[in-house]
Order: sequence, then structure tokens, then C-alpha cells
Amino acid sequence: MTEDTSDDATVETDGAAGADETTLDPWGSVTVEDYRSLFAEFGIESFDEVLSEVPDPHYLMRRGVIFGHRDYRRVARAMRDDDPFAVLSGFMPTGDPHIGHKLVFDEIIWHQAQGGDAYALIADLEAHSARGLSWTEIDEHTRDYLLSLLALGFDPDEGELYRQSTNRGLQDLAFELGSSARFSEFESIYGFDGETSVSHMASVVTQIADILYPQVGEPKPTVVPVGPDQDPHMRLARDVAARTRYFKTTEAFASVEFAAEEQPLVADAHDHRAEFADDPDRPRCVEAADWLRETHEQTAARESAAETLANAGREPLRPRTRILVRSAPDAAFEALVEAVEGEKRVYDGHVDAFDLSLDEADRLAREIEVAEGGFGFVAPSSVYHRFMTGLTGGKMSSSVPASHISLLDDPEDGYDKVQSAATGGRDTAEAQRELGGEPDECPVYELYAYLLAADDDDLATRVYEECAGGERLCGGCKEQAATLMREFLEDHQEKRAEAEELLADLDVSVETDRVGDGLVPAADE
Ligand code: TRP
Ligand code: SF4
Repeated sequence: MTEDTSDDATVETDGAAGADETTLDPWGSVTVEDYRSLFAEFGIESFDEVLSEVPDPHYLMRRGVIFGHRDYRRVARAMRDDDPFAVLSGFMPTGDPHIGHKLVFDEIIWHQAQGGDAYALIADLEAHSARGLSWTEIDEHTRDYLLSLLALGFDPDEGELYRQSTNRGLQDLAFELGSSARFSEFESIYGFDGETSVSHMASVVTQIADILYPQVGEPKPTVVPVGPDQDPHMRLARDVAARTRYFKTTEAFASVEFAAEEQPLVADAHDHRAEFADDPDRPRCVEAADWLRETHEQTAARESAAETLANAGREPLRPRTRILVRSAPDAAFEALVEAVEGEKRVYDGHVDAFDLSLDEADRLAREIEVAEGGFGFVAPSSVYHRFMTGLTGGKMSSSVPASHISLLDDPEDGYDKVQSAATGGRDTAEAQRELGGEPDECPVYELYAYLLAADDDDLATRVYEECAGGERLCGGCKEQAATLMREFLEDHQEKRAEAEELLADLDVSVETDRVGDGLVPAADE
């Protein structure tokens, strides 16, 4: 995952609010000046808008640490309806797991507790090919990530932990999906060029496979908790998933196809059929064409819709659900036609169903696809969390030990790091009492909100309000935070020790016998 490092992930903005130059580069450097710019520019949606649909939301959701999502509604719905869903995220074993990664561990574990099939993976192929880490280093970090995941409550009996490098099923999936991805996309999405190593490209296909892996054999909503720098992978995975689909379903009104912008006009005509049809039970396409021209403002969409309708002549205008072939083999289309119940009309490359709702058609199409050897993927969803500020201010970076707290740090060192952290406090106690501190600018407040207060909303709110109101001074506040951090680390490390046994029982090897450490050039940037 990404919480990481200056060199890990990028969201660059030029600083101005609503800046127009934002790039999301999974292997670049991270700064997000303005999370809202991600909504407008990349179509990430605000998490606030789905929060009320999530049963018993996690504190990271309640506190806005998880700020955005793509298509999370379908996951929330599955949770509410007790339908199958999955959660998956991956971690590049490039250093110690730290408190930034803990956010993602917690998100996975929470979704598992809500009934999701949970997957956590070690992105060792990516670390090796895109970051140039040796297998020896990777093995060591792999162990550490897995132990922390288990210590925080990942249930390995119910969920699956894997390494990319040893998961044969995953590799097979990556190979298949690679057929639906083009180098030209890699160029435009990731800026890859002739100097990019082929293994780095393969690691991208592997990540797309990771994201869809939980659905093999059982398509279901899947949420991927990540930092916003991973969004390009999500978009690609969603596109690739769509390309593998056998069928596509739409609403239609006649044997002819209407473009997306024409569709609402035709629907409107159908709604008003009583106004123009000689026989309202059989409104004709040509009548609808005339009506559109008379009643609707002249636009390109109206003109093309009216023309298509006029050409359809006396064919009745009649709503139906259309199932189109996307990449289905002939046998699958035949099986689908066979399975459509009620009145239907079969064309070359699509079938119109008059007694199926869009939802029913979707379900049927997926069912047939899976039965006929397809994947039937549901578009994967994602949730995005904010990057933690470094303890020293600035970015939290794996390469600057004082900026983060590793889950392996000696509890006393953790205590000391919090004690020496930057704050949002005023220069003097007097000024602090008068003006209040600035919790929104304070890495220590973040520690409370993201981790130390855990489920205790009262504590998080109290720290915030007391700080802003000038009743809380930084000395005491840091002492309290440092103590909580020490306790957290002590407890976590005890649990890590207990998890050793669990780890030994897993069939994830933490010792690879791969050769190749001498071969990998450090990244290709
Ligand atoms: N690319 C991610 C990172 O940089 C790691 C990763 C690999 C991942 N496969 C994944 C994340 C699948 C989420 C889902 O940290
Ligand atoms: Fe930060 Fe606490 Fe100081 Fe407020 S009182 S600025 S939260 S350290």
C-alpha cells in the first residue's frame, strides 16, 4: 500500500486551491494539497455522501480520514443485505510496516468483521521490479507485514493472505487480463515508455489481477482500500474488468440503438405517447419523431434521435431491456437467448427482453457468463484515505525514521518520537490559551484521530475542542499521546509475538528461493 514514502506515491498539485495540475502517479512522490481537487479531476466521490448508507461505520470513516470512494455504494448495499462481498488490499514490502499502513490493515480487518471475504497480499513482484528490492529484503519485510496484520486481528482462517510471487492462480489471471490491456494505455496512464522494464509492466497487470482475484469463481462487489495515488490502477482494473464481460445491458425503446444523449429524449417521448399517438397502446417511432421536433428545443441530440425514429417508421416505440454481446462466444449468446424468459426478440448480436428489468437482465447475463466460462466481474470499488502527516511536519516518509512510527519501533522510541513531534500549538502557553491551538494543522491531533483514540469518538472530539478552545496545552497533550502510543506499541508487539504461531501455520512462505537479486536494475525511472 501506499501510505508511504516520498518516493512512493504521488498526488501533486501546484498548491493553488482547485489546482488544475494534479497527477496521480503510483510510483511518484506524495503530497496532496487539496483532496477536493481529486473529486473534480478524477471522478473520485466524496465519502460523506455514502457514509449514511454504511452500517455502523468505522471510525476512520466517521472522522473523514477515509475521504473518498469509487462505487462504494454497492459494497455498502451488500453489507446491509448480507450479500457476499470482498475486501482486498496490497502492500509493497519496501520497509517496515508503520502507522500509515495500519490504517489499511484496519480497513481490511473491519470489512472482514462486517462479513466480507478478506484478502491481503504482499506485492513482492512490484517491490522487486519497480523498486529494485532484493528477495532477501522482501522476505524480511513480508514477515513483518503479515505479523502485524495478524496481530491487528486479520483472521487467516476466514481470509486469504498471499504473496504475488507464489500465487499461481493469480499469475494465471494476470496473464489472461493482460490480453485486455494495451501498451498504449500504460503509456498514457503511467507514463511508461521504451525505457520501462517489461517486469515493471508485468507488475501492473499483476495488480489488476490482485484487484479482481477475490471474484474468481464468484463475482461480487469488492472494495479496495488504498491511498489516492493508487487510483490509476483502480480505473484500469475497472476498464479491464468491463472489457472481459460477455454482455452489456441497456434500456432500449425500439430495434434501433440510441446514443446515451438521445436516450432521455426517447424515454420522454415514450412517457408522453398519449399526446401524439393515434393508438396510445401502439405509439409509432415516426410519431415520436414528429413530437420531439415540435416540443423539444433544437439540439444535435434531438435531431439525431428524431432522425433515427423517423427512419424506424411505423415500428412501435416500446420499452425493453437489451442485452448486447460484448465479448461472448457464440455458444454463450445462444445460452443467453435460451435463458431469457417471457417475450423476447433476437437480433444479430443482441437480444431484446420485454419482461425483464435491467437488474434482472444484469443478473441473468452474469450468471450465463460464468456458466459459459467467463469471469462475470463486478466493477471493483475503492475507498481512499488521507495520507498521514509526518511527525516532523511535511510528509510521512519511510525513509525518514523521525517522520513516522514503525510498528516495530521500541515503545520507548515511539514515546520519544511523539514527544518531539511538531504541533499546531502557539509560541507561548499564553497565546495558546488566548487563541487556541490549531488541531487541523497538528500531527499530534492526527495521531489521536487516526489511531490513538481508536473507537473513542469522545476522546477525539475532546482533544480537538479543548485544543481549539485554548484549554489544552501541547505539553500535556503530547504526554498523553506519547503514553498512548507507547501502550499501543507494547500491546501490538506482544500480539505480534503471539501471531508467530499463526504465521507458521499459514501456507505463505516467508522464504523465497528465487534467484535474480543480481539481475534487477533499481527501478526504471
Ligand atoms: N501498488 C500498491 C502499492 O504501491 C501495492 C498493491 C499491489 C496493491 N497490488 C495491490 C494495492 C492491489 C491494492 C490492491 O503499495
Ligand atoms: Fe496539537 Fe495537542 Fe498542541 Fe493542540 S494541544 S496543537 S492537538 S499538540
